[in-house]
Amino acid sequence: MTKTARAFTNIALIKYWGKKDQQLKLPCTNSLSLTLDRFYTDTSSEVIDSDKDIIYLNDELLNETQSKRIVNYLEETRKEYGFSEHLKVNSINHVPTSAGFASSASGFAALAASIDQTMNLNLNKSQLSILARRGSGSASRSIYGGFVEWIAGNNNENSYAVPIDEEPNIDLEVLSVVVNQSAKKISSTVGMKKSVETSPFYSNWVKIVSSEIIEIKQAIKQKDIQKIGEIAEHNAMSMHALTLSAKPSFTYFEPKTIEIIHLIQDLRQKGILAYVTIDAGPNVKILGTHKSIEQVKTYLNNLSDVTTVVANIGHGIQYF
Ligand code: DP6
Repeated sequence: MTKTARAFTNIALIKYWGKKDQQLKLPCTNSLSLTLDRFYTDTSSEVIDSDKDIIYLNDELLNETQSKRIVNYLEETRKEYGFSEHLKVNSINHVPTSAGFASSASGFAALAASIDQTMNLNLNKSQLSILARRGSGSASRSIYGGFVEWIAGNNNENSYAVPIDEEPNIDLEVLSVVVNQSAKKISSTVGMKKSVETSPFYSNWVKIVSSEIIEIKQAIKQKDIQKIGEIAEHNAMSMHALTLSAKPSFTYFEPKTIEIIHLIQDLRQKGILAYVTIDAGPNVKILGTHKSIEQVKTYLNNLSDVTTVVANIGHGIQYF
């Protein structure tokens, strides 16, 4: 019987933004994320008697163009792990675009886990993280639940995620505020490459990340939400400063993004514990406690054209 692998998406508190090796997806820095419980991908796969892979997404057969990234990934995986069989893959995304999360993290983590099962590769969690990383860097972290650090490493074998605290007992929630659901014009892959190559601030970013990783791990240990929020917000803003300072300059921010940043700053003045983090898109994630997120929601209701979803801390890879 084919089993299904489930992987949850994650939000980076210390961002991965730049590769030192495009092919292997080796990042320039470590990164650190929180796995979320609301959004996940379920993937099953089976060996087929064919010389082509067949890919279904949300029960729809993908054409050649749509399946290219996954087929290339399967091709690379066959070479690397020494098998020749082709697969039929079925992925169901429970990461609605309306939730403002990219599905590549949960998508490639679930696919890696499914390939491991179907081909009996018997990978341990570090090896699974490496396989997921080859699909999408951020997927390396979705192997684990809770707080996760991706160790940059310097070759294919030593660049993988490690758990920091898989089941943290901490009152931390993430409110996803969706400003715009349409696909971004500059993908993360392209945006980070432009930043590495052209931002004069990139070497500073590498320094900022190495100190912020140490600081946020301390704050996580102390369950200090204010500290976690301050560091995560500063890290996200620093990442977006790299896009603004690239040549040519670009930004993922939209007017509504800035409006929400200002709102959260004002709410902090009122004593509400809330911080923002933003990935490669206009949507905003707000970090806070259960109580503060409830308060933030009431203020956001006054803004037009935004939808919100609350997520809590999620688990690592599951099979059923
Ligand atoms: C801003 O993992 O999507 O979300 O490795 O090129 O597929 P590729 O990039 P991807 O980049 C994620 C960028 C980010 C920050 C993060 O998740 O750490």
